[in-house]
Amino acid sequence: TFSEAEKAAITSIAAKIAGHADDIGAEALERLFLSFPQTKTYFSHFDLSHDSKDLHNHGGKIVNAIGNAAHHLGDLDHALSALSDLHAHKLRVDPGNFRLLSHSIQVTLAVHFPKEFNAVAQAAWDKFLAAVSSVLVSKYR
Ligand code: HEM
Repeated sequence: TFSEAEKAAITSIAAKIAGHADDIGAEALERLFLSFPQTKTYFSHFDLSHDSKDLHNHGGKIVNAIGNAAHHLGDLDHALSALSDLHAHKLRVDPGNFRLLSHSIQVTLAVHFPKEFNAVAQAAWDKFLAAVSSVLVSKYR
């Protein structure tokens, strides 16, 4: 569960990124692939070059899904159920990769929102992204 202060930090930054989902997501993915090249293996069918259309399209999908989750903090299991099936049963993404993406997203937020993404907001986002990741890996077996 999230405190009122955590909820405020999560939803206020989610509102700021809503209009820039593609750009924020593309940057987070680029950071993921550059810092953790092994994660590229899941995206061999994408053009992963800087600022590519694929990075923007897919980055936008990820950030929009996170934005949607931010509006369902009390019921992430339900809000992320379809995505959880997809990542566990179809994509079979190694669970360790979710931490790496969460890290890349946080670095991207820190660069774009240096004032708002202070230490308290980062702690809330770290908890939020861990909760999202935990739902997305919950159906693995
Ligand atoms: C697809 C969200 C983590 C690999 C997707 C889609 C969304 C999404 C919204 C598109 C689903 C659709 O088209 O219906 C997320 C979120 C994550 C996350 C919110 C964690 C915060 C990861 C990680 C990896 C990954 C860590 C691997 C490193 C993929 C792949 C696809 C996909 C390979 C399919 C891409 C395609 O062929 O279109 N994800 N994802 N995801 N995700 Fe994730």
